[in-house]
Amino acid sequence: MKGKVSKSVKSWERRLSGQIDEETMLLLASLDVDAELYKYDIIGSLAHAIMLREIGILTGSELSAIRKGLKKILTDIESGKIKLDLALEDIHMVIETALIKRIGQAGQKLHTGRSRNDQIALDLRLWARDAVDDLIELIGNLQRAFVNLADEQGWIIMPAYTHLQRAQPILAGHALLAYVEMLDRDVARLADCRKRIDVCPLGSGAIAGSSIQLDRKRVAELLGFSKIARNSIDAVSDRDFLAELCFDLSLLGVHLSRWAEDWIIFSTTEFGFIELDDSVCTSSSMMPQKKNADTLELIRAKSASAISSLVGLLVMMKSLPSGYNRDLQDDKRFAFPIVSSMKIALNVAEKIVSTAKFQPDRIRAGLDAGFLDATSLAEYLVGKGVPFRTAHQIVGELVANATRTGHTLAELPFVVLQASCDKIEPDVYNYLGAENVVKHYKTAGAGGKRQLRKQLNFWKKRLKSD
Ligand code: ARG
Repeated sequence: MKGKVSKSVKSWERRLSGQIDEETMLLLASLDVDAELYKYDIIGSLAHAIMLREIGILTGSELSAIRKGLKKILTDIESGKIKLDLALEDIHMVIETALIKRIGQAGQKLHTGRSRNDQIALDLRLWARDAVDDLIELIGNLQRAFVNLADEQGWIIMPAYTHLQRAQPILAGHALLAYVEMLDRDVARLADCRKRIDVCPLGSGAIAGSSIQLDRKRVAELLGFSKIARNSIDAVSDRDFLAELCFDLSLLGVHLSRWAEDWIIFSTTEFGFIELDDSVCTSSSMMPQKKNADTLELIRAKSASAISSLVGLLVMMKSLPSGYNRDLQDDKRFAFPIVSSMKIALNVAEKIVSTAKFQPDRIRAGLDAGFLDATSLAEYLVGKGVPFRTAHQIVGELVANATRTGHTLAELPFVVLQASCDKIEPDVYNYLGAENVVKHYKTAGAGGKRQLRKQLNFWKKRLKSD
């Protein structure tokens, strides 16, 4: 929503004389960002008005005029009928001014016992509550996409990497479910943040509350908050919940960036583990053959915006004197863009995952490279009574020899294996090769079939009941 500058003097500023110039107006205005809060501002005002009626400040007909007026303003903002005049500074004043213009006297009473300081604190909490709910739902969708992919295509064996070097073989589904774990912690963090959001600040006024007997609990109840803020000073200046939200999104962004990086690598010609659907790729304006994973790259970049929002918000809050300071108006400039871009990133991530195709032939073709079975051989020796450190050395030497002769461990003749350690028996070949290794994983949470089945069962149940 674009606002336009008008030179009208604000009706509530009788204390001041002289006209604010256009530049100053632009500095003061937050309407360009907080217009997004119109719905929450109207809902909050409605709850406040209902309470004012109940405590006898408004008459029944004044309340119904306010109710009708606010409802009409809601649709008029949506249809663009109400001009977003930057001279009015923010969405609160746009709505209140429109209301007074339309219903007169009753509209003049709406702001009783209220300040824009507690009003914006309320609007932000209503906004953040919805944002968290939407984000949790979108993360759930992405988790379900990973679980489906793991279930449908995750039974193939692929290398797991440490230091981006081949480490041990695992089922592909195991790697996919690692992302589901990270995302689960993101959901838990957001749900926890929601508890801090769930506090109603309205009734705190500008800083010290009001001498009018406002029914704060009633307003909280009408707006679905489970608590009211205990301290009016804290209530108007607390933006911790926004910083938490930005932190939670930063970590979510970091998780998404790690996944994106994995898949950018896996979808290269060099790896060829995953084929991304054309619908989530782009080409090059010059090189006709290109199929680029730009969507993954941009998802990877989102963590940078999230982290900078978090840092920006914290720096803005640092050393602010207690109570409301106008600096706080800029909180939205940090928090709003990152919430909307994370929602887009999550939606697209879900599309990428649900259309991805593993390339089993390519993966299988390379499985013998990199001695993925070396650790398994060392553990086999442990089973035959060899101390692990000794076993590690024996296998290390075997790998060095095999590298020299260009063999895999499974290709080494029995005599060679036996020469390295007389505890080795012919059953050793049941432990060599990626497939055998995966068969022998015993620990809970390992990369084998049994463990994958167990994890899948867990997630299917968990993500259904959420
Ligand atoms: N628009 C402001 C904000 O977003 C609320 C206005 C408070 N203004 C004031 N002078 N106390 O924070």
